[in-house]
Amino acid sequence: MKKIIAVIGSPRKSGRTHKVVKMFEENIKRVMDINMEYVYLTDYNITSCKGCELCLKKGEEYCPLKDDTPILFKKMIESDGVIIATPNYALQVSSITKIFFDRLAYVFHRPCFFHKAWIPIVVEGAYGGKDILKYLNTLGSFWGFNVCEGIRFTLPVNEVLEREREKINKELYRKAKTFTEVLITEKPVKPSIKGLCMFRLVRTFHENNPSKEFTRDYQYYKEKGWFDSQYYYEVKLGFLKRIVGMLTDKFSLLQAKSTQ
Ligand SMILES: Cc1cc2nc3c(=O)[nH]c(=O)nc-3n(C[C@H](O)[C@H](O)[C@H](O)COP(=O)(O)O)c2cc1C
Repeated sequence: MKKIIAVIGSPRKSGRTHKVVKMFEENIKRVMDINMEYVYLTDYNITSCKGCELCLKKGEEYCPLKDDTPILFKKMIESDGVIIATPNYALQVSSITKIFFDRLAYVFHRPCFFHKAWIPIVVEGAYGGKDILKYLNTLGSFWGFNVCEGIRFTLPVNEVLEREREKINKELYRKAKTFTEVLITEKPVKPSIKGLCMFRLVRTFHENNPSKEFTRDYQYYKEKGWFDSQYYYEVKLGFLKRIVGMLTDKFSLLQAKSTQ
């Protein structure tokens, strides 16, 4: 059975964010059996990043902050899918959600959540959630997830949630079907042109970094075999993407040489 964790960034355990995720769980279960775990970020000790950059430069194990972030990371890496649910707070994710993301900043450098599904849920009172969803979709793809574009609900008060329960359920059911498709897909997801170019640019940068032997990112890319691969994982690229990839390799190599 597929394992999903719902990471909830609302400090209110019986708030609308929680209620919408519960409804989403029920709708997923109309499509397939799943094993769902709820993770409330406020139940964990997550300390603000101090910006020392040791995780980026040397490795996450050198982080001087000793808190529950590794526990949460382990939960995510051991799951098949992650629902990230947050209220809109001041036009952004809630502070605890952002603190958690900052603590995993090294994953932007060393993505690791390949072949796992990611879906954001944003709950808000009035306005601003569209940009938050965009941000959360992008974040998921940078971390390597197979992104199922998120969903947002504007619910000023609980009565709206109750009154519109049927309509919300309809939307959640539609999303549940897409999310489960992403969750069960056996085929490696093909990269977008943008994603492919990013991969090629970044790996060329690492390969041509004069002090590469001392950087954790270079070691990581080397261990993964990413200096010789087409993409982060085995995937069949069409003719156009192979050409674009080759041209990006050449362009980024010229760029790297000109800056040395
Ligand atoms: C500190 C704070 C800031 C908020 N900022 C926004 C906002 O910028 N835009 C918006 O539409 N709703 C905003 N809201 C409303 C919440 O997004 C909304 O009430 C949401 O349902 C809260 O999630 P919860 O029910 O899980 O607690 C804010 C609420 C709080 C407490």
